[in-house]
Amino acid sequence: MPPRVIPFGRPMFGDAERQAVLDVLAGPTLTHGPRVRAFEARFAEITGAPHAIAVGSCTAGMELVWRSIGLGPGDEVIVSAQTHVATAHAVIMTGATPVFADSEPVTGNVDPTLLESLVTPRTRAIAVVHYLGLPADLDAIRSVAGRNGLFLLEDCALSLGGRYRDAHTGLIGDAGCFSFYPVKHITTGEGGMVITRHADLARRIESMRAFGLDRSDPAARRHPGAYDVVGPGANHRMGELAGALGLCQLDRLADFLARRSANDAVLVGRLRRIAGETGALRVLGDGSDSAGSHPRHTDTVDAPGRVNRAAPPAEADPRRPARICRSIVLSDRLVPQRDSIIMALSDAGIGTSVYYPRPVPCFTWYRRTFGDGPAARVPVAAAISRGSIALPIGPHLDSTDMTAIADALGSILCGTRA
Ligand SMILES: Cc1ncc(COP(=O)(O)O)c(C=O)c1O
Repeated sequence: MPPRVIPFGRPMFGDAERQAVLDVLAGPTLTHGPRVRAFEARFAEITGAPHAIAVGSCTAGMELVWRSIGLGPGDEVIVSAQTHVATAHAVIMTGATPVFADSEPVTGNVDPTLLESLVTPRTRAIAVVHYLGLPADLDAIRSVAGRNGLFLLEDCALSLGGRYRDAHTGLIGDAGCFSFYPVKHITTGEGGMVITRHADLARRIESMRAFGLDRSDPAARRHPGAYDVVGPGANHRMGELAGALGLCQLDRLADFLARRSANDAVLVGRLRRIAGETGALRVLGDGSDSAGSHPRHTDTVDAPGRVNRAAPPAEADPRRPARICRSIVLSDRLVPQRDSIIMALSDAGIGTSVYYPRPVPCFTWYRRTFGDGPAARVPVAAAISRGSIALPIGPHLDSTDMTAIADALGSILCGTRA
């Protein structure tokens, strides 16, 4: 039998998506159409957002948020170091300066206890990622933002479906930005969405995503060409083909999330066993609290696989994850062999990824621009980048795939130890 092939991600398109695209192609409207408006309305309904604005990508959405609050040169934004470079680049594109905050070790999310010390008179905002779909500690982060009058942006590229207490991620802060890139929870090819509780911010983003026009939707114009320009702007609109795909994908979101969660439960069970038997790895974001799969940030890790659990929280954990994948962190002894373990998994037909190859301040351009000083020292985020492997749990896979991943990893690690 040929070996099982387990891709890291695969777009989940079926007849509904194919027909929806053909329907767009059969008509005259490729942009400014009803599908993107319906996609925004449905996304707002599902997340509970008062305002949802479709954009070309999550990165474009984050840049629009920053430009809409007038962020610019001289301003600083505190940014999670362990994130996609997009979170920081969106700040850079406005001329403002990202100031990086290290992760806490158990989950990889930003360590909220570090934030206050990074605030200066120039700080305007905080940008946090919900790393791998596990909500960051928003109570603590929001209280730092509140005390210091800072805007809070949630990078929700990996957290569609993730909630914090009774709110969807993206609605605790001032704005949340989502990605519909192919390996995300839903995909439109390329695409993104901004959600916010603030009507005035939504209006500014809507105008800026379409050249700063007063009437960005041609349907609102008395006749073609009847518009004024009331501010600067770019073209970050989403087109009808993407909107049509997005609508179909939202119909399937609940099923996608349930499958991811079921796969994750099977995989984590197996990984825990490997961790216990070999000490070769720890499972990032693992725990046995009320949210089912992650520990409190107050827990500590003193060795791979060994978590010192803090006193139980007085109230149930508010974080409801929507995981995009499941990362393991190898023991120090095995970190030098991380890449060969990835290659061995690939040879066994198993696709993996690394979230993220370096903390943002350690990428070449950031080091050249901001230096290698204390600000670039984010040891916890760096250890995750060096030693982690992201394993797939997407809805294209099932429990048999999860078992195959764990079995392959277990035997590779046994071979590595020998
Ligand atoms: C955390 C995070 N933010 C932003 C992005 C960028 O999203 P997009 O490609 O939609 O701009 C990514 C992409 O993987 C990401 O992982």
